[in-house]
Amino acid sequence: MSSAAPTLPARLTVVVPCYNERANVAPLIARLEAALRGIAWEAVFVDDNSPDGTAAAVREIAAHDPRIRCLRRVGRRGLSSAVIEGALSSSAEFVAVIDGDMQHDETRLKPMLAKLAAGEGDIAIGSRYVEGGGAAGLAGGFRQRLSRLGIRFAQLFLPAPVSDPMSGFFMMRRQRFEEIAPRLAGSGFKILLDLLFNARPPLRVVEIPFEFRARAFGESKLDALVLTQFAGLLIDRVLHGAVPLRFIAFAGVGLVGVGANLASLAVGRALGLGFALAQAIATVIAMGVNFQLNNTLTYRDQRLRGRRLWRGLALFMLFCGIGAVADLGIARTLYEDHNSLTVAGAAGAIVAVVWNYAISATLVWRAR
Ligand code: GDD
Ligand code: MN
Repeated sequence: MSSAAPTLPARLTVVVPCYNERANVAPLIARLEAALRGIAWEAVFVDDNSPDGTAAAVREIAAHDPRIRCLRRVGRRGLSSAVIEGALSSSAEFVAVIDGDMQHDETRLKPMLAKLAAGEGDIAIGSRYVEGGGAAGLAGGFRQRLSRLGIRFAQLFLPAPVSDPMSGFFMMRRQRFEEIAPRLAGSGFKILLDLLFNARPPLRVVEIPFEFRARAFGESKLDALVLTQFAGLLIDRVLHGAVPLRFIAFAGVGLVGVGANLASLAVGRALGLGFALAQAIATVIAMGVNFQLNNTLTYRDQRLRGRRLWRGLALFMLFCGIGAVADLGIARTLYEDHNSLTVAGAAGAIVAVVWNYAISATLVWRAR
């Protein structure tokens, strides 16, 4: 047969988010091949332009295997959004998500498919915390405790109990995924939690035990930032999306800035500087700290680098400086009117954070 022979349309799309997983690509495909024999499947590797050449490794195999696709994204990072885009690129009846580092057990995919096809649930979740599952592969006691703590927290917000809502290994009907997709927050690591939170009506869950394996190659990408994004997802849930997450992050960073300001002021005073000079220096330091934190946390996806970074810093200082002066004026007026420092301070802070946020979103980190 010629190489242009049509292949069967896939019944199952396996979405594989990957970042710096080059060494895992070929072995994972070989395992999927063995585990999914008899099923028309395809795999979409969603790679965020990994410097190690993950995309090239996928394309090399895709060149002679039509079941393999590579979706390379540039200028962006994120496990959840990678999964969403990979799943939305599917036309199959079912979509599954599996990590690209072989920590998930691909032999569980067939049982998941069987359960869903039999109508036993809307989503099949690979669980480390039901009988027969295990989390031994989680690197270290700290990760183990963190995982359990996160699960306890997440349970508080779930419509129905799920033993492992932090799992990144699951399968569902593509149609159902498409319905929920527009409501997903899409930030951070926890796409499953995002799906469970936002499904209307709630998803009926079937859990399939699996043993979380240790990583063979490469390293984990879970870091402090990912944990912050997890907290953000929960806050968003509590607020029902009424306040944009970015604003919450921005305000949180602002609080850290206030701390930096007070600490610098105290140091300046201790060094014998006059109040006005010490406060001026402290303000500049606080703005620098705020800018840096916003650039790495709040606006991580639009992070400024190189010349754009310096331009952004200058704009940020200029406009937040204007904000600070206006804020002083407002605080003073209110103080004189009400003779209440609390009201004045709070009003000043609210005006300042809204002003700074508006400037930051439109001028400093404007979406390109
Ligand atoms: N495209 C893309 N972009 N992929 C990413 C990114 C990203 O920014 N960050 C991580 N990945 C990929 C990794 O390459 C890997 O294939 C998968 O997502 C999981 O990332 P790891 O860094 O290996 O995560 P982990 O092992 O710490 O976390 C695992 O356990 C969690 C539960 O404790 C994952 O399975 C999570 O999904 C799971 O929730
Ligand atoms: Mn992993």
